[in-house]
Amino acid sequence: MTPHGLLELATTLAHDAGTLAFEGRKAGLNDVGTKSTTTDMVTEYDRASERLIVDRLRTLRPNDAIIGEEGASVSGSSGIEWCIDPIDGTTNFTYALPNWAVSIGVADSEGPLVGVVHIPPLGETFTAIRGEGARLNDYPISCSTTSEISQALVCTGFSYAAHQRTIQSARVARMIHEVRDIRRFGAASIDMCYVACGRLDAYFEENLHPWDIAAGALIAREAGCRLGDFHGGPLHPAESLVTTPLVFDALSAMIQRASAPTDNN
Ligand code: IPD
Ligand code: CA
Ligand code: CA
Repeated sequence: MTPHGLLELATTLAHDAGTLAFEGRKAGLNDVGTKSTTTDMVTEYDRASERLIVDRLRTLRPNDAIIGEEGASVSGSSGIEWCIDPIDGTTNFTYALPNWAVSIGVADSEGPLVGVVHIPPLGETFTAIRGEGARLNDYPISCSTTSEISQALVCTGFSYAAHQRTIQSARVARMIHEVRDIRRFGAASIDMCYVACGRLDAYFEENLHPWDIAAGALIAREAGCRLGDFHGGPLHPAESLVTTPLVFDALSAMIQRASAPTDNN
């Protein structure tokens, strides 16, 4: 299957799983549980969305590997791996806030190949194929041209573990006066897509998982963003920094300054 064929399949799966979850949410939630901490929620629609995607892939692409947040773990022989976040932004989904997405990334031996982030309540689908640019609802997108960190609208996220949030929020408090403003929308895949299309100038978060970044990072890269960790290395789930290129170095330095121990900690 060509990359375009994989993108078409990933988009169909994201739309169908998104419709299932969105319609189900309107009918009401019956089963809201927790996972790693009491604030890390999971609903019946996180599981149903992943089940729909995995069942279809097992039929249509039986030799592909699959990994999903809600437990999917299938090995494959084709060299293609699917990485699924069936609902990214479950807290927003649970509260009927619109910022949640179905995120599907497809990788081959060279890395991320195809990405789809579909946001059902907004009717927005971000897509990318490696080397072919990024799109929003089929229109090409690119990141902002902001060059001054003081003018940058910066988004971040907070981990589910309380002790990590304390550290992360203290860091943000040390940075907020040096940037235009800070946002926390609650879905990592969407945050990266918002940098990709210029709705944000930068995004950083730590302690993410592969499914949080599998699609969004490719979409951001293809839209012209610069990606990395906080210290100049390559981006990885444990440390993700995604910016319009000209503010990357300043924000990376700012995060490191704001993370340094002070007399109070
Ligand atoms: C979470 C969201 C959130 C981020 C968390 C993620 P989930 O994913 O992307 O924005 O701050 O770190 O775990 O649990 O809603 O799929
Ligand atoms: Ca997620
Ligand atoms: Ca999720």
